[in-house]
Amino acid sequence: MNDLLYVNGGNPLRGTITVRGAKNFVSKAMVASLLGETPSVLRNVPRIRDVAVVSGLLDLHGVNVKYDTDAGILDLDPSNVESAHVADIDAHAGSSRIPILFCGPLLHRLGEAFIPDLGGCRIGDRPINYHLDILRQFGAVVDKLPNGIQLRAPRRLQGTKIALPYPSVGATEQLLLTAVRAEGITELDGAAIEPEIMDLIAVLQKMGAIISVDTDRVIRIEGVDRLEGYSHTALSDRIETASWASAALATGGDITVKGATQPEMMTFLNTFRKVGGRFDVQDDGIRFWHAGGDLHSIVLETDVHPGFMTDWQQPLVVALTQAKGLSIVHETVYENRFGFADALRKMGATIQVYKECLGGRDCRFGQRNFHHSAVISGPTPLHAADIEVPDLRGGFSHLIAALAAQGRSTVRGIGLIDRGYENFQDKLVALGADVARG
Ligand code: EPU
Repeated sequence: MNDLLYVNGGNPLRGTITVRGAKNFVSKAMVASLLGETPSVLRNVPRIRDVAVVSGLLDLHGVNVKYDTDAGILDLDPSNVESAHVADIDAHAGSSRIPILFCGPLLHRLGEAFIPDLGGCRIGDRPINYHLDILRQFGAVVDKLPNGIQLRAPRRLQGTKIALPYPSVGATEQLLLTAVRAEGITELDGAAIEPEIMDLIAVLQKMGAIISVDTDRVIRIEGVDRLEGYSHTALSDRIETASWASAALATGGDITVKGATQPEMMTFLNTFRKVGGRFDVQDDGIRFWHAGGDLHSIVLETDVHPGFMTDWQQPLVVALTQAKGLSIVHETVYENRFGFADALRKMGATIQVYKECLGGRDCRFGQRNFHHSAVISGPTPLHAADIEVPDLRGGFSHLIAALAAQGRSTVRGIGLIDRGYENFQDKLVALGADVARG
């Protein structure tokens, strides 16, 4: 596969594209199908590599997966779930972080699970200590092997009471996918409540689970003996929508994102408006545009939901290089999410990264040597460069920078973007971008 994109930048992106289901929900709903005794149907599924990776892993475990890519419909039949060979699972090592969520469902179905070494973006250490602590508390026996983790459930997993030290998305999902079929009641204090998690809870409820979400991040689950398949339409991908909105702003363009929905985007829309972007919420999508004149600098802090998402940060920072004055961005979810700024500097942006917690409250990364705050001074014209994609969201940000920059940029490692952005090259062309694979 050719992994290089030439981008002739400097032109506003204008037009209409469609965004389908959220990457960070679809993959989890696919894992949930393992818990059902009958087939599940998932709609609004985008054709991205993470879906292919999870389909491959489900297939190895005996789930019959059929994917109609055009219609975006996945049929998942778990009637014959079986243990997969370690060597086959190992072939998926390093491809994604989703395999860790197979633990609970496989322990319920088979009493054992092998999880390969995980992949995912290199945006920090990304440990799995919360996940393993949760599984142990349910009664699973966890053995770390040189190439992954071996788990056993000597008897039915038991409901438990857990407090998370930080509202981790993955750990909350781990708990949900394990507790729904454990014996008795499970209570989670300090849960993540991202919209993708609420949609996963909706799926599990359709399957027969009993889950209540109380105030103050408390989730309570009454375990049941049996779950059925589900039929569900995935919520829209709010990260992809924000990425295109940021591209409209950075290039001085006008992009309508069909399929985008307002409730999950509210925090982003507030910030977009403060920077000077315009938007119009329509029945079937949201239009984002740059109304001319100066963009405004802002002080921004990323946070767990309902705060400003960490995944929105990187694309928006590219637009902030075009805002007048000093913007301050404090990243509090991942300790290492400003690596992409090196390429922006190479293209003419003025961005300094700092170890201190700037522009907000102190976070858990302060005084710990992590460069997790950035100061962006603008506006600075961007010029073309030869750049390498560092991670999924950082990569899309590089792409936005190349589209905003005058001249012909070479963006390498573009395949990484296929993990989470469906047909992004076709969408760029539809928006009038001058791009070609090398
Ligand atoms: N953490 C721990 N221990 C753990 C788990 C997490 O210390 O066992 C820490 C992480 O190191 C991080 C923080 O907790 O500093 C938050 O991590 P979280 O578990 O919430 O993230 P995740 O579940 O690994 C998902 C998304 C990310 C998204 C985050 C935050 C998926 C597959 N990934 O990751 O999406 O940034 O939640 O919303 O759902 C992306 O799409 O590009 C992406 C990175």
